Amino acid sequence: MKAAVYYKNGGPEVLRYEDVPDPQCHPKGVVIRVEAVSIEGGDTLNRFRGPLVTHPHIVGYQAAGEVVEVGAEVTTLKVGDRVCTTGAFGSHAELRAVPARTAWKIPDGLSTKEAAVIPVTFGTADDCLFEFGRMKKGEVVLVQAGASGVGVAAIQLAARAGASMVLATASSDERLEKLKAYGLTHGINYRTHDVVQEVMRLTDKKGCDVIVDSVGGPTLQSSILSLAYRGRVSMVGQAGREPMTVDVGSMMGGNRSLSGVFLGAEINTDRVQANIQRLIGDVAKGELKVLIDREFPLSQAAEAHRYIESRQAVGRVLLIP
Ligand SMILES: NC(=O)c1ccc[n+]([C@@H]2O[C@H](COP(=O)([O-])OP(=O)(O)OC[C@H]3O[C@@H](n4cnc5c(N)ncnc54)[C@H](OP(=O)(O)O)[C@@H]3O)[C@@H](O)[C@H]2O)c1
Repeated sequence: MKAAVYYKNGGPEVLRYEDVPDPQCHPKGVVIRVEAVSIEGGDTLNRFRGPLVTHPHIVGYQAAGEVVEVGAEVTTLKVGDRVCTTGAFGSHAELRAVPARTAWKIPDGLSTKEAAVIPVTFGTADDCLFEFGRMKKGEVVLVQAGASGVGVAAIQLAARAGASMVLATASSDERLEKLKAYGLTHGINYRTHDVVQEVMRLTDKKGCDVIVDSVGGPTLQSSILSLAYRGRVSMVGQAGREPMTVDVGSMMGGNRSLSGVFLGAEINTDRVQANIQRLIGDVAKGELKVLIDREFPLSQAAEAHRYIESRQAVGRVLLIP
């Protein structure tokens, strides 16, 4: 099969489009013919500095397509089923092998491309807001990096859950403008405004009840300083690629909390399995939307990664084998 691979970490230029052996089907897994790869923030981060657990390495968490092989112990899926899948690596390819537990059936009426985006983005955003952020109706939510894949999902989920205000940050006004259609109340351009000051101005000095932070580094400090009394930060990523040096000194007096969130640690639980299937259904019903910014052929994976890192994408970029 063809795949986008790399032999060493680095910028988008390390990606090559090459012939590699087809993946083997595990007895508890399936192999799919990939129709759409959703490039995750974790994929660009792993390409930059993650371990190369295969050689050459095929990066990538998420892809959707048709089941072409089913492991001997799998009873829940059959050849021909359309599924969206998540795995630790291997999405940037014509074929991918995944555990059957992380392959969710795509309902009729939902496109394979849209489904490719759902599990990690919506699954993660949902856990950040509700499981770990304990968000309730009427609360103020801030989504750092609102134009990211996780961000677009979090804005919609917070708005749907009845947040009194959904705030989000991004690197330009144009990016923030596009988020209004997804439930954003106020956008904060962090290149032109101080985030903490803006949050306090917009919330009448109260601060935010729940903050989803997938950027980390100095951004995490601004999240901590933007918290309301009893506010909660869900720290879920390091898109900013800067060291996590934060001062948590202000948290005790305000009874505030900071939780780390890692979907991968809970993706095999019945709770998350069911949650992701429910979120897929919500998109199929039109209650939630997938925002696809642009598509590239798989052979142009390097260009696609470069485009994402140019910070122009709002929502997801797809690769099509
Ligand atoms: N823990 C988990 O379970 C989990 C699950 C999913 C994702 N994640 C992590 O969450 C982070 C975001 O994932 P995603 O898929 O939402 O990412 P994404 O769609 O690629 O977006 C990342 C966003 O981060 C912002 N950003 C800030 N500093 C950046 C920098 N130095 N380089 C690139 N982007 C930067 C950019 O928005 P602006 O230009 O507007 O600032 C960009 O849109 C990643 O670190 C990922 O690994 C973790």
